[in-house]
Amino acid sequence: PKAQVGRAGQEVAQGFACCISLTAAFPFFIFAPQVRAMRLSFVGEMGWELHVPKEHCVKVYRAVMEAGAKHGIANAGYRAIDSLSIEKGYRHWHADLRSDDSPLEAGLAFTCKLRSDIGFLGREAVEAQRATGLFCRLACFTIDEKVPLFGLEAIWRNGQVVGHIRRADFGHAINKTIAYGYVHHPDGGPVSLEFVKEGDYILERMGVPFPAKVHPKSPFDPENKRVKGIY
Ligand SMILES: *[C@@H]1O[C@H](CO)[C@@H](O)[C@H](O)[C@H]1NC(C)=O
Repeated sequence: PKAQVGRAGQEVAQGFACCISLTAAFPFFIFAPQVRAMRLSFVGEMGWELHVPKEHCVKVYRAVMEAGAKHGIANAGYRAIDSLSIEKGYRHWHADLRSDDSPLEAGLAFTCKLRSDIGFLGREAVEAQRATGLFCRLACFTIDEKVPLFGLEAIWRNGQVVGHIRRADFGHAINKTIAYGYVHHPDGGPVSLEFVKEGDYILERMGVPFPAKVHPKSPFDPENKRVKGIY
C-alpha cells in the first residue's frame, strides 16, 4: 500500500509504532522484519511507501488507519494517485516510459551514473545516444480548457505534427489538464531542449485543436520541495 500523504503523514507515522518507529532523522530506506518503509513517494508529497508482506497487510493497514484517524486519514484510489503523479511530473511506467524509450529522452538522465565509471546495463547505448543527440524528448503540456484528454492526442508544433500524447490527466492543484508526450523533429533530426521550448503547440483532441503551453519543468512544485517536507 502507498500511505500517509502530506504533512500529517509524518505524525501518523510517528504514532504508528506497532511495527516500526520512525523518527525525525528517518533515513530514506529502513528495513524491519515486517515492513519496509521508504521515504519515497509516487505522488510527490511528504510521506512513505510501506512495503508489507502479504500476511501482515491487514494488521499494518489497521494500525496506520488508527494512527491517522485524528489527522483525518483517508484512502485514495489510483485515479487520485495518477493525477498527483502527473502534476509532479513523475514518470509512469508503461505510459510515459516504455521499454523503447531511453532515460535521456524521458528526462531521466539523473538516474544514470554517467559521471561515474560505474557500469550499468545499457550504459553504452545511453552514451552513444548522448553523442548522436536525441531524436525525441518527453514534454509536459497544459491546456486551459476544461476538457479531458486521454492520451493519443496529436501534438502539433508550429503547424506540424511532432508526436502524440502518451498520458494525460487533470491536475487539481494547478486547475488544468496536464499531458505528456514525446516531441520529434518534423525533419527526423535531433531534438534539442530549445526546439521543444520554442514551439507554439496545439493538442488535437477528437479533431478539435486546443492551444497548449509547454513546460520545461513540472508545473507544480518544480523544486521538489514538498517531498522534503517544505510546504
Ligand atoms: C478552475 O478553473 C475554473 C475555470 O476554468 C474556475 O471556474 C475555477 O474557479 C477554478 N478553480 C480553482 C480552485 O481555482
